[in-house]
Amino acid sequence: MVPRIMRDRFLRACRREPVDRTPVWFMRQAGRYMAEYRALRTKHTILDICRTPELALEVTLQPLRKFDFDAAILFADILLPLAPMGASFEFAKGEGPVIHEPIRSRAQIDKLRVIDPEEDLAYVLEAVRMIRRELDGKTPLIGFAGAPFTLASYLIEGGRSSHFVLTKTLMYQDPDSWNALMTTLSAVVLRLLNAQIDAGAQAVQLFDSWVGQLSPDDYATYVAPHVRGILQPLMTRGVPVLHFGTGTATLLEAQRDAGGTVIGVDWRTPLDDAWRRLGDGVAVQGNLDPTLLLAPRDVLLAAAGRVLDRAANRNGHVFNLGHGILPETPVDNVAAVVDFVHQRSER
Ligand code: CP3
Repeated sequence: MVPRIMRDRFLRACRREPVDRTPVWFMRQAGRYMAEYRALRTKHTILDICRTPELALEVTLQPLRKFDFDAAILFADILLPLAPMGASFEFAKGEGPVIHEPIRSRAQIDKLRVIDPEEDLAYVLEAVRMIRRELDGKTPLIGFAGAPFTLASYLIEGGRSSHFVLTKTLMYQDPDSWNALMTTLSAVVLRLLNAQIDAGAQAVQLFDSWVGQLSPDDYATYVAPHVRGILQPLMTRGVPVLHFGTGTATLLEAQRDAGGTVIGVDWRTPLDDAWRRLGDGVAVQGNLDPTLLLAPRDVLLAAAGRVLDRAANRNGHVFNLGHGILPETPVDNVAAVVDFVHQRSER
């Protein structure tokens, strides 16, 4: 019998076990930089793809067919839970997400529902089951959700933001309403990640993409207790929990203390500095600047080599970008860096 080959170096690295090569996957590895994705998008909206498990499965697999990635990530979006909670939204062309009625009052916060994922996001969980079946144990599947601060910022600002003025104003002016909103969002996120694990996700990542907007004091006061309330129970589930943010150079220790078996590091902090501060108790994920994928090949591979040098083949490194892959990224550069990481890190 031919032994089934299980690509487990991603899960092994998350657990800080020895690996044959450094595992690599990219945030937003499915998306517009791929012609296969753009072709599907001429026929379906992003929300159609997310809400149709067969399409979500197809898009999840696209990057795995083309590149030698060590993990799959569920195709979905961090904003999906907002609609069944009572905050409808759309992805407007060229603008990104638009929340139809941004949160401006306590009454709106009190009306938000704590959803039941099996009922309200059944299509996400069905996609998880279908992807697991299709991957057949060969490549591990990562589930994910947005963190409460990042989700709150979309709900309050109504879309993308540069200074997070409305979000921080609510936080400072009315901490009671802020805590009510963060408590509801945290309950939803915990339920959703637990449901994804029940459906077969072999690791989960919490995306706190915009939390680097906060000072360490404000993170400790307004965010950390909520994130801890999500991550501590998840860490009893026996699957790796990846805790990611950007602009978090001054928050890394506080994020680690809130929870996570793997801490995401962006390119602003050298990986070895980050790891020294985080200590031996966690794995690290990162941290190539995604813009380097648009650079000349020699510049790109030299930078990827420096990330590997800083990790020095220590147990517990998951190679990734410091944030999601950009739509302008040349496909050949993705293939080149994935293969380079595997070759250069062979033990
Ligand atoms: O990583 C993957 O391959 C899985 C899919 C995934 C998507 N969104 C699909 C998507 C993941 C993990 C996300 C997470 C997400 N969504 C985050 C956190 C990660 C990060 O990048 O910080 C955030 C902040 C969102 C919210 C969101 N969704 C925005 C701001 C946008 C618009 C971005 C843009 O450039 O237009 C989306 C839409 C979206 N979600 C796209 C994809 C592939 C692009 C939309 C399209 O196809 O038109």
